[in-house]
Amino acid sequence: MRPEHVTLVEVGPRDGLQNEAQAVSAEAKVALVHSLQAAGLKEIEVTSFVSPRWVPQMADNAQVMAKIQRVPGVRYSVLVPNVRGWESACHSQPDEIVVFAAASEAFSQRNINCSIEESMLRFEPVVKAAKEQGVKVRAAISCALGCPYQGTVSADEVERVVRLFKDLGVDHCGVADTLGVGTPDRVQEAMERALRHFPLHEVSGHFHDTYGQALSNIYGCLQMGLHIFDTSVAGLGGCPYAKGATGNVATEDVLFMLQGLGIETGIQMEPLIDTVAMVSGLLQRPPVSRVGRALLAKRAASEGACST
Ligand code: HMG
Ligand code: MG
Repeated sequence: MRPEHVTLVEVGPRDGLQNEAQAVSAEAKVALVHSLQAAGLKEIEVTSFVSPRWVPQMADNAQVMAKIQRVPGVRYSVLVPNVRGWESACHSQPDEIVVFAAASEAFSQRNINCSIEESMLRFEPVVKAAKEQGVKVRAAISCALGCPYQGTVSADEVERVVRLFKDLGVDHCGVADTLGVGTPDRVQEAMERALRHFPLHEVSGHFHDTYGQALSNIYGCLQMGLHIFDTSVAGLGGCPYAKGATGNVATEDVLFMLQGLGIETGIQMEPLIDTVAMVSGLLQRPPVSRVGRALLAKRAASEGACST
């Protein structure tokens, strides 16, 4: 069942930076996207068209989208929470939009101020308008393995939202462990519920690494044939509404594992580590990822050896 090729959807510029307290300029975000596409990433979630009052870091959304030099074959997506977001986002001509709902009621209220059912109603006109313009719609189900307010989230609760998204007509269903509390068996169970309603090539996993389980969870997904995962360069990220949840699984950590398994991604490690170094310099802190740290240390050591 293990796939021969895996697609990594880079979510660092959006999910990674949305929670970043320090200001990051639009130019730096654009440079980050350029560096990611140079490393071979073919799907990049660039920004979100959400309320700047709630997520000020994404206030430069249109500016960033306008300045990106698009490369053919790369898909640029943006997160959209409502019609207002779509109306702004569509001028930026994204290839794909991401709509999101929580598997837990409590989280839905805190994240987007409404119930799960209400969030679906909000998305109805968004999905319709996007599809009319030929824009692909990816859905993300957050808190699919656990919720900071409710605790454990059951596979039944996940499947309920999968069904709602299916009825809404989205193209793709992403299952997100926002808190990073999932472990492989439970993750496989949640994925299996998504696969009851969406084909294998339209189901993806999005894992935060808070408890160090993300790679095991991805490995569990690979065993089911799943082959699309969201990752974030340098392990950037966290959700502003899920306190304590750390970053998404790092792109370089996942790439290292996939290379070891002989699975193709089209991404090159060395240029990706250049991106990790860029992010590290930009934010003035080392990456949280193990592979990022190890390979930057190896680079520093060989540069030191060359200069002596
Ligand atoms: P609302 O219902 O309008 O209510 O927005 P509000 O009181 O929150 O609105 C606040 C202000 O934002 C109002 O303006 C609105 O007009 C305006 P004011 O009257 O104060 O001047 N507004 C907007 N402005 C720009 N663009 C828009 C927009 N919509 C309203 N699209 C809403 C509800 C959900 C839009 C708002 O609460 C919001 O944007 N929240 C932020 C949600 C968010 O970005 N969450 C993080 C992303 S989800 C995530 O990270 C999880 C995921 O990655 C999976 C995982 O990691 O596990 C997907
Ligand atoms: Mg995330």
